[in-house]
Amino acid sequence: MNKLIVSLLLTLGITGAAVAAEGPVKGDATAGQAKAAVCGACHGPDGNSPAPNFPKLAGQGERYLTKQMQDIKSGKRTVLEMTGLLTNLSDQDLADIAAYFASQKGSVGAADPKLVARGEKLFRGGDLEKGLPACTGCHSPNGAGIAAAGFPHLSGQHATYIAKQLTDFRKEEAGRANDGDAMIMRTIARKLSDEDIAAVSSYIQGLH
Ligand code: HEC
Ligand code: HEC
Repeated sequence: MNKLIVSLLLTLGITGAAVAAEGPVKGDATAGQAKAAVCGACHGPDGNSPAPNFPKLAGQGERYLTKQMQDIKSGKRTVLEMTGLLTNLSDQDLADIAAYFASQKGSVGAADPKLVARGEKLFRGGDLEKGLPACTGCHSPNGAGIAAAGFPHLSGQHATYIAKQLTDFRKEEAGRANDGDAMIMRTIARKLSDEDIAAVSSYIQGLH
């Protein structure tokens, strides 16, 4: 995108989405590894976080990662644990970090055998009665997501983290941004009961 248009969009406050849609700054995974050192404490050095409330970033799509970092940096998505951590990072730094984590291999956990059947049914088939679409349509059958579209990779993600996100999407004033991408998930999450969320989150943790 032309520099003039970028600065115009920035002036108008139309940042993230519009700029990202044209293709964000190109990231360099090698440069990103050094810049991501501070993130390793919570997300794991290679992006495979050991703690269930800290999301795995390994293998996540660059476009999605960049958008979330922009949202967290600008305060559109609230992550108290990350307060101030992104403030001094440039768009190039964020692109490099995204390229690094995207290049790492995501680890996979295990699903609770008692929840697998219900979780799998929801993930693969949705729920016709409730008008709930299958998750596979956007997150793909193996949970890999569609990186180019910004649809996140879910497979192997911690169930605790997934359940919190689905619960946040369900709320009116949530921890997540209020934009088009999140609106898709808000509409979907509102159709999920607590039991649905527990089952599909457990299923995703073991999905690969
Ligand atoms: C003190 C712990 C901590 C540190 C350090 C930290 N994060 Fe996070 N991060 C979190 C937590 C907790 C969340 C999830 C919050 C929630 O539940 O929504 C998160 C979420 C994210 C997400 C969104 C993931 C997704 O799937 O949507 C990205 C991207 C991210 N962090 C990148 C970074 C980067 C880059 C750094 C280093 C510059 C970093 N984090 C450092 C705790 C941390
Ligand atoms: C029409 C496309 C679409 C469908 C269908 C869909 N999703 Fe999503 N999902 C998205 C998009 C887009 C995002 C990113 C939202 C954002 O940027 O905040 C997302 C984000 C998520 C996240 C947050 C991931 C993270 O790392 O924080 C979870 C969890 C999730 N979806 C679960 C599901 C589940 C479970 C289903 C099925 C019940 C589902 N999605 C169906 C498009 C979809």
